[in-house]
Amino acid sequence: MVIEIPELLDKAEVRAIRAQLNAADWHDGRGTAGHRAISVKTNLQLHLDDPLAQDLGKRLVERLGQTQLFIASALPARIMSPRFNRYENSGAYGNHVDNAIFSVPGTQAHVRTDLSATIFLSDPEDYDGGELVIDDLFGEHRVKLQAGHMILYPGSSLHRVTPVTRGVRFAAFTWIQSFVAQDLQRSLLFDLDNAIQDLTADHPDHGAIDTLTNVYHNLLRQWSTT
Ligand code: NI
Repeated sequence: MVIEIPELLDKAEVRAIRAQLNAADWHDGRGTAGHRAISVKTNLQLHLDDPLAQDLGKRLVERLGQTQLFIASALPARIMSPRFNRYENSGAYGNHVDNAIFSVPGTQAHVRTDLSATIFLSDPEDYDGGELVIDDLFGEHRVKLQAGHMILYPGSSLHRVTPVTRGVRFAAFTWIQSFVAQDLQRSLLFDLDNAIQDLTADHPDHGAIDTLTNVYHNLLRQWSTT
């Protein structure tokens, strides 16, 4: 399931963040790439312990926790602190898979990357290229969203970022461990949840709402792994 979460940040918030990122302390992104990814990655990143990255990351995680569409679709158990990258001068990130498990810096905790998320922070007209291309069972998704919007996709997908041939592309990205590890199960729960919401809006007294809600929670209880 590939889902767009629109307007995670509004225009003013994105402008302010971009101004901070413009002046930030950028480093070669190969520092955090795995063995195979290192040869295909040419971008810049903020260090994980950069105070700006930590501060912005905290705000983004807070915002995610207030975003109903994100919660309903991701069923998040743990969210990695978001990271920040910058692509320019034909910078790109070739085809790769993300690590299955990350340790949370400074703790004993781990996050299984059931979902990957990218928050676009540059407006699409400000750069050429820089599409996030995601391969899944249904083919290829080419994603280039308005600044402030987020794409959520299965962590199991091969993906890449095409070269940025004009302008600068800023983005934040993170991984989420879901209560439900399997993408198909999450998407069934999401469909069921939406159907219950629709039914409740149109026929608030319908007795089937209780049955369906019970089914939803019992499936969630059976399928949750965390
Ligand atoms: Ni990746």
